[in-house]
Amino acid sequence: MKLDLHTNYSADEIQRLFTEVFSESEGEEEGKLIGGLVDSLMATTRDEDLIGCVATDKNEVIGCIFFSRLSFNTPIDAFIMAPVAIRTDSQNKGIGQELINFGLGLLKEKDVTLAFTYGDPNYYSKVGFQCITESTIKAPVTLSQPEGWLCQTLDGNAIQAIDGQSKCVEAFNDPKYW
Ligand SMILES: CC(C)(COP(=O)(O)OP(=O)(O)OC[C@H]1O[C@@H](n2cnc3c(N)ncnc32)[C@H](O)[C@@H]1OP(=O)(O)O)[C@@H](O)C(=O)NCCC(=O)NCCS
Repeated sequence: MKLDLHTNYSADEIQRLFTEVFSESEGEEEGKLIGGLVDSLMATTRDEDLIGCVATDKNEVIGCIFFSRLSFNTPIDAFIMAPVAIRTDSQNKGIGQELINFGLGLLKEKDVTLAFTYGDPNYYSKVGFQCITESTIKAPVTLSQPEGWLCQTLDGNAIQAIDGQSKCVEAFNDPKYW
């Protein structure tokens, strides 16, 4: 298996991975929704606000995760990890955790101090995320499942409260994803 940046792969192949994985796990409608989100993330996000990581096996994309910038009123370097997809026939082999740790390593190299995600705490706690409340740090859009709002620091400090609103990139700025 090889871990790499998404920019070295075709946007079509990456979009197809997300569409297929989410169709198989959540149904066709969700597959289309997440495929569309990934398409829009790649097409509309500034290079400096998006990091995609890809896992390949025999030159085929078998996993992908995206980190996009989360901005605050104060100058804090933060990214949110979403979405995450591992090809159905490659799941439960540790690839998701390896890919996420690879991505978090890239963020650390760029001196990013906070990583967020929104998902299952049971899974994402395996790679260092912990539940936070919106009284500590506000999500950019109203959350339908606030228990899935997760964060970790990348500089060894404890999570500290941040005042004011957070802002996600344009592709994510829609309540249907939250
Ligand atoms: C969720 C997902 C990214 C996990 O990646 P993976 O490579 O299959 O998982 P790993 O092999 O790294 O980790 C396996 C462990 O995570 C657990 N796990 C896997 N998927 C899980 C999920 N959806 N929720 C909670 N735990 C999960 C497994 O039970 C296993 O636990 P164990 O080590 O205690 O036995 C992958 O299964 C996937 O793409 N699923 C469909 C799309 C999705 O739900 N994406 C996440 C939302 S954005």
